[in-house]
Order: sequence, then structure tokens, then C-alpha cells
Amino acid sequence: MAAPSSNDEHGLAGRRVVVTAGGTREPIDPVRYLGNRSSGKMGNALARAAAHAGADVTLITTVEPPRDAAVHVVRVETAASMARALEDALPDASVLLMAAAVADYRPVRVSHDKIKKSAGALILELEPTVDILTSVRDADYRGSLFVVGFAAETSDLLANAQKKVREKGLDLIVLNDVSRGDIAMGSDANEVTIIDGDGVVEEVHRAPKDEVAREILRLVMQRMR
Ligand code: CTP
Repeated sequence: MAAPSSNDEHGLAGRRVVVTAGGTREPIDPVRYLGNRSSGKMGNALARAAAHAGADVTLITTVEPPRDAAVHVVRVETAASMARALEDALPDASVLLMAAAVADYRPVRVSHDKIKKSAGALILELEPTVDILTSVRDADYRGSLFVVGFAAETSDLLANAQKKVREKGLDLIVLNDVSRGDIAMGSDANEVTIIDGDGVVEEVHRAPKDEVAREILRLVMQRMR
């Protein structure tokens, strides 16, 4: 890990940075949802690090935001509401850090009433949600935005992450091995591999998420210069 440069403290001054955090929740009925294990800690750490680097930060999140950072918070719940919040926030932003774990599927029908138990199996029909980063790739403002995606993988880590960089048209992707219990989802620590369209850019060894976030932002600032 490189030592932070003296510019990092104000390296994002005057820039709007949009961060997404947490896992989306797709409603089934008034009391149930389809969710995932994302804690939002990596997104919160990124928001904190970006604010510390002088950025004007918008945090679009499904979880509690950090208390110790000056960030504009937009609370959302579903993939669709996260997509709408991003449509509002991105046109005048310089950086998108897409750390949220966005559901790929949602129930086709949301029951108005609580679903009652019955003797047989319950079958939920699911439909794909919008792929937010693919919409960002195709948006008018994409040219003025630096986009970082986050890959959650359990096998063929590098190949899968590299496919996502290409298909989602990302500047960088942060690869997380979510099969490990000691890092990533829910943990206070992380260990990641940062990849661009040409291959591995940097390996960040196991460290607190705040430190990993600072390292990701250092690379972003370096590449934006
Ligand atoms: N993502 C998104 N919209 C979705 C799903 C994911 O924008 N509907 C974003 C995530 O926020 C993340 C990146 O895409 O930055 C990769 O997410 P990941 O869950 O690793 O991959 P998926 O695209 O969902 O593909 P798969 O589940 O097949 O691995």
C-alpha cells in the first residue's frame, strides 16, 4: 500500500462524489423482503474518506450513515429507488463509488396483505431489477464521471470481476471475496484486489475498511489527475 500523498486531504475539494452503501431490500409483503448480508460498512468508510478528502459527498444508502462525516444522505430501500436517487445525484458528480449490494431480482407481485402460512410450498415469482451500473454506462453524463464498481465473488474471482469491468464500462472494480468470513460482508476489515480494463492494478492486504477506503480513493484521485 502506497503512503498517502500530501494532496490527499484536499484532493477532492470542489468535486461531488456519490457513494452507494448497504444491501437493497425488495418487498414481498408489508413485513417481509428479499435482502442480502451487506452491512454498508465499506460504503460508509468510502463516504467518510471522500468527505475527508474535501469532496461534497452524497451517500445513497439502505443503512445507518456514519455520524462522524459531513455527507448528504439519501435513504433508499429498493434497487429501483436507488436507481432514481442516482439519476438525481449523478449528472453533476465527478465520481461514483458503487459499493451497494443491489438485488438482481425482485418479487413480481408485492402482496398488499401479509402472506398467511398454509400447508403447501410458497412459490415467489421473481423478475430482474434494473442493472444500475449498466444504465450509468449508457447515460449522457458518463463521460464526465469516474465510475468504480464493487464485485462480490465466491469463485473465478479475477475472471468474473474483469468481465464486470468490461460489461459495465467501469474505470475500476474493487473485487471482494465474499466466501471468506474474516473480510468483506459484515466485517470491519477487508482485503481487495483493484482491477481496471487491462488487469490487476493493486492488491490491498487485509486492513480496516477505513484504510481500504482511503487506498481506493488515493487510486481514484491519481487516475483522475
Ligand atoms: N450492480 C448494479 N445493479 C444491479 C446489480 C449490481 O449496479 N442490479 C452493481 C453493484 O452495485 C456493484 C456491481 O454492479 O458495484 C457488481 O455487483 P455484483 O453483485 O458483484 O454483480 P452482478 O452485476 O449483480 O452480477 P452477479 O450477481 O451475476 O455476480
